[in-house]
Amino acid sequence: MTLPIQRPKMEPFTIVIFGGTGDLSRRKLLPTLFHLFQDGQLSTGFSVLGFARSKMTDEQYRHLVQEAINTFHEGPYDEEQWTEFSRHLFYLSAGYEEDESYMKLCERIDQTGAVPKEEGRNVIYYMAVPPQVTPILVEKLKDHHLCKERFKTKIIVEKPFGRDRSSAIELNKILRAAFDERQIYRIDHYLGKETVQNITFFRFSNGIFEQLWNRYFIDNVQITVAESLGIEHRGAFYEQSGVVRDIVQNHIMQLIGLVAMEPPIGFEAEFLRDEKQKVFLSMPPMNEEVIDQFVVRGQYGPGRVNGQDVPGYREEESIPSGSNTPTFFAARFHVANWRWAGVPFYVRTGKRMAKRITEIAIEFKCPPLRLLGRTSDLLESNILLLTIQPDEKISLRFNVKYPYTIDRIYSANMILDYQETFKTKSHPAYERLLIDCMKGDLTLFPREDSVETMWAVVDPIISRWESSPPGGFPNYAAGSWGPKEADLMLAREGRHWITT
Ligand SMILES: NC(=O)c1ccc[n+]([C@@H]2O[C@H](COP(=O)([O-])OP(=O)(O)OC[C@H]3O[C@@H](n4cnc5c(N)ncnc54)[C@H](OP(=O)(O)O)[C@@H]3O)[C@@H](O)[C@H]2O)c1
Repeated sequence: MTLPIQRPKMEPFTIVIFGGTGDLSRRKLLPTLFHLFQDGQLSTGFSVLGFARSKMTDEQYRHLVQEAINTFHEGPYDEEQWTEFSRHLFYLSAGYEEDESYMKLCERIDQTGAVPKEEGRNVIYYMAVPPQVTPILVEKLKDHHLCKERFKTKIIVEKPFGRDRSSAIELNKILRAAFDERQIYRIDHYLGKETVQNITFFRFSNGIFEQLWNRYFIDNVQITVAESLGIEHRGAFYEQSGVVRDIVQNHIMQLIGLVAMEPPIGFEAEFLRDEKQKVFLSMPPMNEEVIDQFVVRGQYGPGRVNGQDVPGYREEESIPSGSNTPTFFAARFHVANWRWAGVPFYVRTGKRMAKRITEIAIEFKCPPLRLLGRTSDLLESNILLLTIQPDEKISLRFNVKYPYTIDRIYSANMILDYQETFKTKSHPAYERLLIDCMKGDLTLFPREDSVETMWAVVDPIISRWESSPPGGFPNYAAGSWGPKEADLMLAREGRHWITT
């Protein structure tokens, strides 16, 4: 089945990419904009204005963008399309802290924007700069009346949104002093993935599952976000961040929110964001005793991944030999509300694990008795698996009679493969999120209060770990499923990790 792509009508805009020379810009933003252009999804009067300190002319910037597209763009490349696209690209070389830069910025937006000034130009500011630079930019934009007065603006802020709750509050304060909340798009690219969005559709459009989605029928929920890669070229960043700040506070918390939330009263951004926020508020922060018992940390040592020997974390580039930064996390969370009381949410995430997979497993309670006067095989529970990456799938495990036996039970899987069914690759997350921002749809962007509440859940874990160094790091081999303590945590409760 192939469905037509929906192409929203959009007004002309200028996207100013602060840090337009950087890694994120080259890997993701510029190739994504090119692809949207090829796909006819950008308005005719759009312009892209790179803003960074590196000295460059418009022409040199176009060259940088072309190189980025040649390296990172996955679709077909057409010289004519490139030439047309490149006419929309501009560059401003300027310092972030100098007032003069913002006067020049204003002039360049006026020069490059297609719409007459009187009609009000749409401007999107993209903060593709290291996190410490964002507050400086926001304050300067405010001082120069470039947030609300001069143009119709939106601002896209990249993660991390702070390092803990108090720095997130501080960042939000700076943003809110300059922009209204409806202008602020905090980007968590995970939420742009088709299968993540599908969690909401699947839950609320299927009568059979909707009825069962609660503590009466669900035994436990498991979320696995496993990466087979190590830290790549991001050693210095990762050493400052660690697994909780990098993955748990944002991606994993968002997945818990989508699995656990009540049905929103509509698809509007605020309704969905309200329901997710209620989930985060229902997750009681853990005390030290609970953390020591129900949260496991790990760091990978050397091992083999996909048939290749790989170094341990402490041997990676830019990592000190005695580093205690965790690269693995497993925990038992609870969502203490009426729907979920008593249902454990087990989550685990790590680098250099056995394979790359992001999956949500919903394990249903077993029937009360074994079949056939209890002589049959032990029953396996029914499991609904929502696989988010690398292959987007939904599968349901259920039990059937094994042919020609008397009492054997066989666990079969019913599988929906997205690519096979829809004959299309789902759109990269950045495309969807950029389009949503251009349209003014905030649904997939975390709101101020939820960012702070997600930090409130993980802050006690970070503090506990930072104040009590781990013994025995590294404690799992690269290419494994993490430290044995993560398995023991579930075994103590008569369960095990579900791995496909
Ligand atoms: N890279 C990714 O894949 C990725 C993924 C998710 C989120 N992010 C987030 O996206 C943002 C940008 O990441 P990035 O990897 O693109 O960063 P980056 O390459 O280190 O920096 C982007 C640009 O900012 C300028 N810059 C670098 N260091 C600076 C400093 N200390 N002071 C002022 N300007 C500086 C540089 O341009 P000039 O020197 O020319 O000014 C650079 O080209 C970060 O917040 C990051 O956390 C990145």
